[in-house]
Amino acid sequence: MDRIRIRGGRPLTGQIKISGAKNAALPLMATCLLTDDEVRLENVPDLADITTMTNLLTHLGVEVTTRQSLKDRSVIFSARGLSETTAPYDLVRKMRASVLVLGPLVARHGVAKVSLPGGCAIGTRPVDLHIKGLQQLGAEIDLDSGYILARAPGGLTGGEVTFPKVSVGATENLLMAATLAKGETDLINAAREPEIADLANCLNAMGAKIEGIGSDHLHIVGVERLHGCTHRVVADRIEAGTYAMAAAITGGEVELVGLHHDLIGAAAATLAQAGVSLIETPDGLLVRRANGVVSGVDVMTEPFPGFPTDLQAQMMALMTTAEGASMITETIFENRFMHVPELTRMGASINVHGSSAMVRGVKKLTGAPVMATDLRASVSLVLAGLAAEGDTYLNRVYHLDRGYEKLTAKLSNCGAEIERLSDGAAE
Ligand code: EPZ
Repeated sequence: MDRIRIRGGRPLTGQIKISGAKNAALPLMATCLLTDDEVRLENVPDLADITTMTNLLTHLGVEVTTRQSLKDRSVIFSARGLSETTAPYDLVRKMRASVLVLGPLVARHGVAKVSLPGGCAIGTRPVDLHIKGLQQLGAEIDLDSGYILARAPGGLTGGEVTFPKVSVGATENLLMAATLAKGETDLINAAREPEIADLANCLNAMGAKIEGIGSDHLHIVGVERLHGCTHRVVADRIEAGTYAMAAAITGGEVELVGLHHDLIGAAAATLAQAGVSLIETPDGLLVRRANGVVSGVDVMTEPFPGFPTDLQAQMMALMTTAEGASMITETIFENRFMHVPELTRMGASINVHGSSAMVRGVKKLTGAPVMATDLRASVSLVLAGLAAEGDTYLNRVYHLDRGYEKLTAKLSNCGAEIERLSDGAAE
């Protein structure tokens, strides 16, 4: 099993090109199931989760062709030869976002059998909102032996779906399904993450009729069919926020290339409050400490445009060596503090009380062997390792491979002493 070794204490300086967003690419890949025409996605990140979704689509009979050029990676999908409408457990359990094939399959093909994703390290993560929403559009849904069995032989019918809580995935599943439903659909209390706007823009390029993009009320007028399109995946705001915090925790200066400021949302204001400045440049954002120190700030995760839960672990790493204290409250997932014991082993001072963690800044962290548990917890340990004195060994780096393209290369190009060890020996 691979490990990563980091020798901390070196400020990051230089440029990091931000890749296409994992959490945009995954639903965008599922749109190919809504048409027989080719869907071509550009700026697709080369990640384990993208490979998992590709394997699932291939299993369904979708033809997937990857084109790698010097500066871009495009993937072309054709569902003309779709031969299967079952997403099996052994594929879905590897990645929960596989459930995003449910809406397109039942909307376009009238039938879908998709394994319930099951929970994951950060929480139970049910899909009840996906199921209830599709039922409100006329799908007949049964749960049997761990599978969702969805049928809509005469197609879906538009309707009004009010989400009792904000759900990115449920909004995406319903948005895709509604594009082919008969009549009009209103999605109320819809998630507003930029990845959803990216998906809606792609669907409209395919001939869908979606209004209210970027708001929490999406109005969709169903159409007979969708055609193919070429769409460029939006930049990954979570990757960008991660590297912004890496620059800050090491006291460096990094330009995040290919990112627009408006993608960062509330995280920009929180970082500014902590003394991290994000300056817009013609190519992206320049990140550095505003006046030499990082101050403790309170953070509460919320749906976009609030502070993203996917940056919570990274922010906590940044706060471990800040001046003062920081109260970090996780409101989205019930178990997203697994980075705490590992950061503590590196010398951080963190006390967890329910869904809040009190972080008291310490002078320095010390490198140690640490264990990755989920994607964002893993990268928070990388950030801590970059700032710590001595060597940090991060085990189970397959978590990182799910969401960070070329992480060691991007960081070493900015001066980090970081390398991937394929020695197999866990610490
Ligand atoms: C998406 O997950 C992201 N994944 C997550 O990123 C992200 O943390 C999350 O949105 C919140 O922003 C992808 O886009 C592939 P939700 P999703 O439905 O759609 C509850 C990462 O690190 N809920 O918005 O699964 C759920 O349990 C990953 O890149 C229900 O109760 O998240 C959670 O508490 C991690 N019933 C809350 O809603 C449902 O039917 C938000 O979940 C659906 C969700």
